[in-house]
Amino acid sequence: MKTSFLHIEQSPALHGTVPLVGAKNAVLVIMASLVLTRGKSRLKNVPASADVLQMIRLLEELGASVTFFKDEHELEVDTTGVDRWQVSPDIMKKMRASVLVMGALLARFGRADIAMPGGCLIGDRPINYHLSNFEKMGVIVEQSGEFLCARVSKNMAARRLVLAYPSVGATENIMMAATAIAGTTRIVNAALEPEVLDLVAVLQKMGAHIAILPHGTIEITGGADLKPIVHSVIMDRLEAGALLLAGAITGGNVYLPDAPAYALDVFLLKLEEMGHTIEVGAHEVGIRLIATNSPRAVSFKTGPYPSFPTDLQAPMFALQCLADGESVIEETVFENRLLHARELSKMGAQVTVEGNKAVIKGVEELYGTQVIATDIRASCALVLAGLAARGSTIVTGVHHWKRGYDSLEQKLRALGGYVVLHEDEQLNGELVQQEQEKALQK
Ligand code: UD1
Repeated sequence: MKTSFLHIEQSPALHGTVPLVGAKNAVLVIMASLVLTRGKSRLKNVPASADVLQMIRLLEELGASVTFFKDEHELEVDTTGVDRWQVSPDIMKKMRASVLVMGALLARFGRADIAMPGGCLIGDRPINYHLSNFEKMGVIVEQSGEFLCARVSKNMAARRLVLAYPSVGATENIMMAATAIAGTTRIVNAALEPEVLDLVAVLQKMGAHIAILPHGTIEITGGADLKPIVHSVIMDRLEAGALLLAGAITGGNVYLPDAPAYALDVFLLKLEEMGHTIEVGAHEVGIRLIATNSPRAVSFKTGPYPSFPTDLQAPMFALQCLADGESVIEETVFENRLLHARELSKMGAQVTVEGNKAVIKGVEELYGTQVIATDIRASCALVLAGLAARGSTIVTGVHHWKRGYDSLEQKLRALGGYVVLHEDEQLNGELVQQEQEKALQK
């Protein structure tokens, strides 16, 4: 059977300095927001991840011309020719973030037809907050086959909208739609993740009037004509987290000169509680991690920013499997985001999961085996565990890894880790066994 997989070997302490690239979760929505403008925009610091390539396809399907200078991490998008408002099921099903183009299409054309989105296997991931607030703004949403058809009605007006939960995607979508509505829209209980704030910065550069008010309210005064922009996407705090954790789990010393420490406070606090040394550069940019050789287990609970990020829960989970003591991890953002527990157990982790809580008892050693990544961040957790596990680890389901990270395996190798991505190669039980035997003989 030909498949793609990651092969990881137990690695020495990771050591060195690596650069980061722009945040996937910022660039996808920023790319969608370009539909609000007519003309040529340039985005810098763009990761070449599979989701970005999907978003390029989506923009092209709408009529945009896109050139990706991959080596320079720069993307040129000309939205002059955008003349369609329907996104095909093929694209929508591959990437849930496609739903983020809805607000921009409503602002530009007064209509948007999208198929129900796909994406990671982390729960139902409904879009009711997006749709119910569009409706409150005066959008009529109807289902027609597998499409959701949204149309602006004559009742479209700026309103005060309250989110039941500070949803990242709903906040972004509503903001983009509101840029076209004269008057002041307020989003109460808005998400304020750094990636949302990067979108705010982009919309402001385009000429939109947006203010962040106390207690998580975003105010948009719409109606301005929005212009193309040049923008450098914020650094990926999740890639930074993954690299720091790789340093920590191998007992290493890793320096990330452009890591946004200001966006990782609670995460860094938890690493310090484990016993690792964290040094932060001037203006909260740049992080060095010097690992302890006797990490203590820590407990944490995920939540909206600035709480512990749900996207670092799985990677941090992997570290708790080898820490001294007991860790309780509570996932409050997504209802089905502990699937990596089962895979880590196959590697020897002692974990019990009940509902959205996992209790992990640290063990002395993990063992390499074949495991399956079920979402982007689970793939990261399994790679981290593989770096520390005895023997070879084979991770399948690597389309998730490629969706979320741009050559992270190469960065891990630059630090001394053994992580190799095999594309469309033969993988069978025998190979896994051979790899394991080879590694155990070393
Ligand atoms: C974004 C990120 C994702 C991150 C998440 C939380 C992108 C492309 N993805 O996802 O990596 O893990 O923020 O930081 O930026 N919900 C509803 N109804 C809705 C919308 C959301 O019930 O209409 C629920 C979700 O199922 C989830 C929670 O709200 O349980 C948070 O979701 P949300 O903040 O919207 O995450 P995303 O924007 O999908």
